[in-house]
Amino acid sequence: MYKGILLAGGTGSRLYPLTQVSSKQLLPVYDKPMIYYPLSTLMLFGIKDILIISTSFDIANIQKLLGDGSHIGLKLSYKVQDAPNGIAEAFIIGKDFIDSDDACLILGDNIFYMGDQIRDFQKQIEKNRGALLCGYHVSNPKSFGVIEFDENDNIISLEEKPKNPKSNFIAVGLYFYKNDVVERVKKLKPSGRGELEITDLNLQYLNEKKLRFFRMCRGTAWLDAGTPDSLMEAAQFVQMVEKRQGLKISCIEEIALNRDFISLEQFENLIKSYKGNSAYKLYLERILSERKNA
Ligand code: TTP
Repeated sequence: MYKGILLAGGTGSRLYPLTQVSSKQLLPVYDKPMIYYPLSTLMLFGIKDILIISTSFDIANIQKLLGDGSHIGLKLSYKVQDAPNGIAEAFIIGKDFIDSDDACLILGDNIFYMGDQIRDFQKQIEKNRGALLCGYHVSNPKSFGVIEFDENDNIISLEEKPKNPKSNFIAVGLYFYKNDVVERVKKLKPSGRGELEITDLNLQYLNEKKLRFFRMCRGTAWLDAGTPDSLMEAAQFVQMVEKRQGLKISCIEEIALNRDFISLEQFENLIKSYKGNSAYKLYLERILSERKNA
């Protein structure tokens, strides 16, 4: 069974001064806080037991927003990362939380729009025997971790920001590891920039031929919202799709209802507890009445 770790710390320096007093992961992406997007991705994988890691400065606000998660059928816990010591440190901070389970790590500023492909992804996760990465085809692979792969989607090489990329597929911020990940991270040494690097962890699996990736297909979207431009583009993407379809992306209450994490009655009571008359609340009310009339 996979538990989820949502890594929402970091410095957010590329977004200063937006991140001077607010956590990057609480900034708005169109109509909801950024953290709703990675949280909903975990929920769509059926993961309910989730550890949220953030800075000592930001964790209280994240907790204020999401609480213990029981209102949306989740079990949320929280831990502080004292300093941005790297993405792989999540598994050291989350050691007791992971316990004897497997771990899915998602980065708090990564937005996935996968639609039905999530089912194929889930089948791959069930077959995972080591580490399973998520690969997305981009036009500019030189700025990312590039995946070279064989005909069975086994990874042959993983290169950070290569001059001559071996493919257009890059590793994005969603990773599935078997339980041995904790022991493996303990063996890592900080890199030149003083971080426990997720790539170094993945290279351990690669050396043992236990590293595969899931290929996100055409028509899906992966966005990271770490710069002013990408934050704006992510918001515009969400706005455009939501307006066209009349359906929300990453509405955590709706996902909780659709996945039977909560009952229709719980959903109704939840809406009643929401203040004001935001477009978000009106949307939830519409979903409720559609469900009642179905
Ligand atoms: P980054 O975008 O690489 O770093 P950052 O968020 O600190 O931003 P900047 O580069 O602008 O200073 O981090 C990717 C995600 O991982 C993001 O959600 C923050 C999170 N993160 C941590 O929580 N702890 C860490 O030690 C690192 C390196 C990242």
